[in-house]
Amino acid sequence: MQLVIIAGGLGTRLRPLTLHRPKALVPLLNRPQILHALDRLPPTVDQVILAVNYMYEEVRDYFEARELEPEVIVVNEPEPLGTGGAIKNVEDRVSGTFAVCNGDVVDSFDLAAFASFHRKSGGIGSIAVWPVEDPMAFGVVALEGQRITRFVEKPSEGEAPSNLVNAGHYLFEPDVFDFIEEGRAVSLEREVFPKLIPRGLSAYRWQGYWSDAGTLPAYLHAQRLLLGAGEGGVSKDAEISRGEIRPPVLVAPGCFVEGRLGPFAVLGRGCKIGRGSIRNATLFDGVSMDDKVEIDSSIVGEGAAIGEGSLIRDSIVGDGVQVAPHSELIGARVAT
Ligand code: GTP
Repeated sequence: MQLVIIAGGLGTRLRPLTLHRPKALVPLLNRPQILHALDRLPPTVDQVILAVNYMYEEVRDYFEARELEPEVIVVNEPEPLGTGGAIKNVEDRVSGTFAVCNGDVVDSFDLAAFASFHRKSGGIGSIAVWPVEDPMAFGVVALEGQRITRFVEKPSEGEAPSNLVNAGHYLFEPDVFDFIEEGRAVSLEREVFPKLIPRGLSAYRWQGYWSDAGTLPAYLHAQRLLLGAGEGGVSKDAEISRGEIRPPVLVAPGCFVEGRLGPFAVLGRGCKIGRGSIRNATLFDGVSMDDKVEIDSSIVGEGAAIGEGSLIRDSIVGDGVQVAPHSELIGARVAT
């Protein structure tokens, strides 16, 4: 079976990190985010097709330099075609029932179990759904049994027909291509799914964890889930003898840590951390942080330098940014 990963959006909500790198290659636990989507694939997936618009060449070059199992093909989409158009754009390469997922989702999804559910459902497609406390920011489904009868995108208060939201995993029969117009941007969620309802669209619920990783809070949630699932650790090539570690954390080789780290902190390669504190945050490769700095619920881009006494909270600091001593960044997005 083939898996199409829709992975070519602009990632505007993660800017400035996505100004100079494709969203798929934004590090999450020190690996390109997209690799997490490839982690748990069943052996029945024999080919992965990455549908990419924004910064196609960078994604292609990344995968060309690596031999992965299963094979990964990166397909260019010269104009952004939206989530539906991205699938239409790979029609020629797909045969038989195929799986689709969003490239910015991190979860413990079992695609083999989903495929067996879809085979039994007999419809044109199946959508994995996930219960959330507050469905207002999501695409919500209304159900009769396991059949989807209606979609409500980002419902207002009291309007949500259920707390089950689209989790970004789909299985389709090839007939689905007939429902996606060619040559223009098409939203799978808003335009295609409603048209598929009469042809049988089923909702699949599963147990486990799930998060998208496309906004700062969602990214940090995904990071907490992965660290909580045991994907952390401290490299033996890191120097942390004077630091204090509160697990779970992930520390890459070449880091030097004097401060308090964690819980839920990730350091890329070669970070230099002074006597301050970092929690619920990630610092990409080569970040330096002076003494008396507090970093909380934030992402700090590659090679950034944080001056003494600074406070960084709920912020994204771009690659290479120099933060002056005693700065206060709260809810900020800072680029060079
Ligand atoms: P924002 O700009 O922050 O909304 O991010 P995004 O552009 O990634 O959009 P969104 O998070 O809604 O996208 C869900 C998934 O679809 C992500 O994996 C995106 O990379 C992908 N995606 C969104 N739009 C396109 C597109 O036009 N083409 C392709 N190939 N993928 C897309």
